Amino acid sequence: MYKTHNCGELRVSHAGQQVTLAGWVHRRRDHGGVVFLDLRDRYGIVQITINPNLSKETLDLVANIRFEWVLQVTGKVQKRPAGMENPKMETGEIEVIAQSIEVLNPAKTLPFMVSGEEQDADENTRLKYRYLDLRRERMSRNMVLRHRVVKFMRDYLDEQGFIEVETPILFKATPEGARDYLVPSRIYPGQFYALPQSPQQLKQLLMVAGMDRYFQIARCFRDEDSRGDRQPEFTQLDLEMSFVHRDDVLALVEGLYTEMIPAVAPHKKILASPWPKLSHREALDKYGSDKPDLRFGMELYDLSDIFAKSDFRVFQSALEAGGVIKCLVASASADLSRREVDELTESAKTLGAKGLATLAVTAEGPKGTAAKFVKPEELEKVKSRVGAKNGDLILIAADERAVANKVLGGLRLILRDKLNLADKDVMAFAWVVDFPMFAWNEEEKRWDAEHHPFTMPQMADLDKFDTDPGAILSDAYDMVCNGYEMASGSIRIHRRDIQTKIFQLLGLKDEEIQTKFGHMLEAFEYGAPPHGGMAPGIDRLVMLLADEPNIREVIAFPKNQAARDVMADAPSSVEPKQLKELHIKIIE
Ligand code: AMO
Ligand code: AMP
Repeated sequence: MYKTHNCGELRVSHAGQQVTLAGWVHRRRDHGGVVFLDLRDRYGIVQITINPNLSKETLDLVANIRFEWVLQVTGKVQKRPAGMENPKMETGEIEVIAQSIEVLNPAKTLPFMVSGEEQDADENTRLKYRYLDLRRERMSRNMVLRHRVVKFMRDYLDEQGFIEVETPILFKATPEGARDYLVPSRIYPGQFYALPQSPQQLKQLLMVAGMDRYFQIARCFRDEDSRGDRQPEFTQLDLEMSFVHRDDVLALVEGLYTEMIPAVAPHKKILASPWPKLSHREALDKYGSDKPDLRFGMELYDLSDIFAKSDFRVFQSALEAGGVIKCLVASASADLSRREVDELTESAKTLGAKGLATLAVTAEGPKGTAAKFVKPEELEKVKSRVGAKNGDLILIAADERAVANKVLGGLRLILRDKLNLADKDVMAFAWVVDFPMFAWNEEEKRWDAEHHPFTMPQMADLDKFDTDPGAILSDAYDMVCNGYEMASGSIRIHRRDIQTKIFQLLGLKDEEIQTKFGHMLEAFEYGAPPHGGMAPGIDRLVMLLADEPNIREVIAFPKNQAARDVMADAPSSVEPKQLKELHIKIIE
């Protein structure tokens, strides 16, 4: 038996007991004769006290012990003398007086310290030695939280009648808008599997198969540029339901999250219940984003009508070009320094703006770049529309509607951080619904599916197919929280005629449709039930619950920002023999 107890579980109630522990040396302190070792395992840390009355052999051994050695310690649990307790440690009221110590394995000097919360190593070093990084409390806590989240999902969905079905990793391209990872076939020269970007097609086929309620903790693979909230492989709670409308799917997932958050992260508060529902249009117009952060207000206002007869050339030309004049209000920010306003203007330009006009409301009258152009009656109308008080700063963008929204939406988040407007312990969940079905791809002069091509258009819009595809809304929905897209889903097309129409509008040739999706279309002819589903991203959820700045911190072995596994050093070259078997030649 290696151990009788875990390091983290010992309390005053164990005082007097003889225990055997096994774990890593977290810290050591020498106090003239007495040596204190903090011994750590996943469950916590306990202080081992080594008194000078032990055998010389043991004391010599202890003299050599360094950080992260693996030890087995037998000793007696003792209440710490009064005044020696450590309230910061869960085991801080006791210590274990060592009787014998065995070194199970020594350790080399580490590339960075495991003890201490401070990140003292750069990220690539942490990732290269991820197994050491994961020993840290913060990372270990994140892994446990992730486990609890996934377990809660499994248990909850099981109770709701869902079954978990595994679907293949070696499959065929599923279009989710990214590049595919391809796997060459040895048996079929020149042919490739694609790793699934999501199990989208397979879960729909499971509905055709009558599974009714399916879920999977599914790994997805997308060859796209990594970002803080994106990894080449990531995990979704993928789910699909038959005989449902949009609101059935939303209610199921809202119910899951509403019960899960207090259970796994009790310090997080869900802002509103039921979750607000915004149309895609409303989200863009009010917050300048299709994934708005609703923890704070700071809505966007349209001032186009007020400035219809403006003398300001910038405003005139935007309106003449069919654009809008929109603004947001940074409260109590009229006294931002020149440099701060310049920084905001630079950010606006990076977001695509031609410029940023400012209007500071002060007791002495308007100030800022737009002040001299704004007539008194215009100013009064603006102030009453946006509710501005003395001391507020109005930031104005005059541009195409989409650009003005994007610019102000971006500034809204910059101001959120600058003015500290959002509480990190608040989870502002919301649904964004009524997405456009298609988005015009200007580069390639064609329509793209805004969600994916299996999404059901809204029935009322079906007659716009031939006249105005851009105006067709779909039955797609997103879950958003704190400025992140947390999940996407839709009601699916279950009729072959509509599916074919969509493929045609997306510019797919009949032959292409057949080779890419023939299996789907055929399946839809054998009695496909109406169905719909969703896929919440698990990495992003755990990231928010753990207060981490990016999803790498909640994935055990992530790729770095350049999409490399720096621990195993992948991707890497392979033997010429392997390439030959795969019928592959590398072109330099
Ligand atoms: P979608 O592509 O929107 O939908 O993805 C759903 C959710 O998955 C998460 N996500 C990611 N997380 C980390 N890294 C990435 N690269 C990444 N890409 C996506 C996000 C996102 O909201 N098959 C559809 C779902 C459906 O219609 O049921 C799909 O995959 O949280
Ligand atoms: P200009 O006449 O280009 O020097 O611009 C005058 C002021 O209007 C400057 O403060 C610019 O930053 C601002 N401005 C320029 N273009 C826009 C725009 N499209 N929207 C809002 N403000 C702008």
